[in-house]
Amino acid sequence: MPLVSSKEMFEKAYKGGYAIGAFNVNNMEIIQGITEAAKEENAPVILQVSSGARKYANRTYLVKLVEAAIIETGLPICLHLDHGDTFELCKSCVDDGFTSVMIDASSKSFEDNIALTKQVVEYAHAHGVTVEAELGTLAGVEDEVNVSAEDSSYTRPEDVQEFVERTGCDSLAIAIGTSHGAYKFKPGTKPQLRFDILEDVSKRLPGFPIVLHGSSSVPQEYVKMINENGGNMPGAIGIPEDQLRQAAKLSVCKINIDSDLRLALTGTIRKYFNENPAEFDPRKYLGPARENIKQIVKHKLVNVLGCNGKA
Ligand code: G3H
Ligand code: 13P
Ligand code: ZN
Repeated sequence: MPLVSSKEMFEKAYKGGYAIGAFNVNNMEIIQGITEAAKEENAPVILQVSSGARKYANRTYLVKLVEAAIIETGLPICLHLDHGDTFELCKSCVDDGFTSVMIDASSKSFEDNIALTKQVVEYAHAHGVTVEAELGTLAGVEDEVNVSAEDSSYTRPEDVQEFVERTGCDSLAIAIGTSHGAYKFKPGTKPQLRFDILEDVSKRLPGFPIVLHGSSSVPQEYVKMINENGGNMPGAIGIPEDQLRQAAKLSVCKINIDSDLRLALTGTIRKYFNENPAEFDPRKYLGPARENIKQIVKHKLVNVLGCNGKA
């Protein structure tokens, strides 16, 4: 089976009241952990590559590893560019065989966001590739761009219809209180997503797939594992999983998760070295890290996204 675009995945997810997991990938073990989980749960999956990941691994390796995952699993897999910030980067990924790209011009003015998104849509659609765009700004860190909580802003529902009509984008990332990274909320606060905004957006865009970035829940078991094995991550708090599950039942068709997998990988490796200080075979610590990525992804597919059995 070749790579698939997100179009059909989202149509089914919207109707079925579930969401597709979009997991960031940087190396072989992460790709294997995610896709082995998806295979066991018979779930469709989006593997996404940020510009930082593409720089780290180079433009060929991740595409070839994802192709290997398709051969191994036979699953519908979409290869997506996460947070593309220029037309040239989006074009380069389309040319490399990605089946979906995100153009993130959310930090630009409304008109500039529309102009750049439209340019990407024209090129991508001519090549059968779907386009995710973003309106509203999340707090947190994306590559070199660090958006402080004060500078982040919720999506304005009154803007979405015009934006989608004028750009022709296929899905829209909105800001309803999620944010990137592991430090999403101050300790002691009670995270609450803005379902009122999500519902207003959905009414204005019936049947249209909505995307949530910054949707890691920051499992405290892994924060603890990191902190008990030489790390220092006080106050790392994420999005409650029951709120993500609720969003997945509504118009949210794609939920982005990266930090939770990083925490599982780092916690596992820290613990391993603490317990095995003389070990230096990478397979010994990357193997258990891959296994824990698989377990956390299985948990997300079944309990958060609801996309198990939907491949
Ligand atoms: O939203 C950003 C993703 O977590 C990717 O992070 O830019 O460090 O690869 P990265
Ligand atoms: P997290 O940092 O919450 O995992 O978000 C990842 C993301 O949105 C990737 O685009
Ligand atoms: Zn993101």
